[in-house]
Amino acid sequence: RSFSEDMGVLHLCTQLFWLVVLGAVAVMVRADGEISFEYHRYEEMRKALVSVWLHFEGRELLVLEMSNNPGTHEPGEPEFKYIANMHGNEAVGRELLIYLAQYLCNQYQQGNDTIIDLIHSTRIHIMPSMNPDGFEKAASQPGEIKDWFVGRSNAQGVDLNRNFPDLDRIVYINEREGGANNHLLQNMKKAVDENSKLAPETKAVIHWIMDIPFVLSANLHGGDVVANYPYDETRTGSAHEYSASPDDVMFKSLARAYSMYNPVMSDPNRPTCRKNDDDSSFKEGITNGGAWYSVPGGMQDFNYLSSNCFEITLELSCDKFPSEDTLKNYWDQNRNSLVNYIEQVHRGVKGFVRDLQGNPISNASISVEGLNHDITTAKDGDYWRLLAPGNYKVAATAPGYLTVIKKVAVPHSPATRVDFELESMMERKEEEREELMDWWKMMSQTLNF
Ligand SMILES: *[C@@H]1O[C@H](CO)[C@@H](O)[C@H](O)[C@H]1NC(C)=O
Ligand SMILES: *[C@@H]1O[C@H](CO)[C@@H](O)[C@H](O)[C@H]1NC(C)=O
Ligand SMILES: [Zn+2]
Repeated sequence: RSFSEDMGVLHLCTQLFWLVVLGAVAVMVRADGEISFEYHRYEEMRKALVSVWLHFEGRELLVLEMSNNPGTHEPGEPEFKYIANMHGNEAVGRELLIYLAQYLCNQYQQGNDTIIDLIHSTRIHIMPSMNPDGFEKAASQPGEIKDWFVGRSNAQGVDLNRNFPDLDRIVYINEREGGANNHLLQNMKKAVDENSKLAPETKAVIHWIMDIPFVLSANLHGGDVVANYPYDETRTGSAHEYSASPDDVMFKSLARAYSMYNPVMSDPNRPTCRKNDDDSSFKEGITNGGAWYSVPGGMQDFNYLSSNCFEITLELSCDKFPSEDTLKNYWDQNRNSLVNYIEQVHRGVKGFVRDLQGNPISNASISVEGLNHDITTAKDGDYWRLLAPGNYKVAATAPGYLTVIKKVAVPHSPATRVDFELESMMERKEEEREELMDWWKMMSQTLNF
């Protein structure tokens, strides 16, 4: 189900927004059974009806889409997402994403060119809470000081950031023995649906990741202050070990694009959140996940290994659920980072892969020499390959077609446009046959037999 309505921020600029419901999660909300006998004005009527509906349906994962053409993928337009609050008690990111939606909307309406360009060139998806049940549990604790763990997991006690299929283990084997370096969950949608260990929130997000050609993403947490990049799970299984992905250079650059604009995160003299915290892997406000501590089954690495999407993990506050009067402060610290990070989606190379007749070739591989991580084209043959500045050899490959390789110079930004036209092997065979026939004809005429 999806609907675009005037809830909350939506009434500000409906033409840019599209509210998507990703699937109900688990539990029913307890009814309080009270009827309020008063006239319901329109807003109150809406609230009352929605609350009855939620009561029967369970809470839902709500996603706000922002684009000049929300609701659809536009060929060539990259897709970006922010997800917060997958740990229900880590509340700052959730609020920041609500403010971000309001900010983007206000700035758009006020004619801010940076924001207008961003919204016109990007489809932005915002999920303020991946764990609405956990948040309610955390928020319902009395008083300002919240327990460190209450509300972290979902209603069934599942830690969602340990619940994703562990694709790191597969790619680490493939690195040694040969095998796929991308889309490791290919053709396994059914297995995902039938896997009873996966929480409903996890399943809904897996489907979302697989269905939309996301290019870039961040996943917002709390409890520390740092931008964390793949891999999160160590190769050897040790607790702390730098675990570079093939795109280590680009991931560092992406993480820095966030930390740099956050004065607290990038402050080299920032004291650790707690006296005994080990932040020795933090440099310039960023850290490799495995170097900090190994996380198997996390969402960040899952994005990179199951789809084209590059995701980093943002830790935004020492306190997981700080008091309300600090929220404006967090917004001020993170606003420029949040906007600047979205803009990173317009880096590297992008373009279309088509056949000689101009038909799109979907699911073609884009590989970059020296980087053992291919990405694939989307339905319209469009692709986005995030890359740090440099000179690259980029190849487009599809079964039944001849591979084309191009040399590309990539600046910091914007992305370099590189289109590929692939000749099918059938066409090539046909050409060769015709050439042979011509040659044979000529020869027979010359030799006169
Ligand atoms: C426009 O938006 C950018 C990005 O958030 C911001 O840095 C800039 O200050 C805004 N401009 C105005 C005039 O508000
Ligand atoms: C995409 O291409 C890969 C490799 O060529 C193949 O294994 C996979 O089945 C294809 N996926 C789809 C959805 O066609
Ligand atoms: Zn967390």
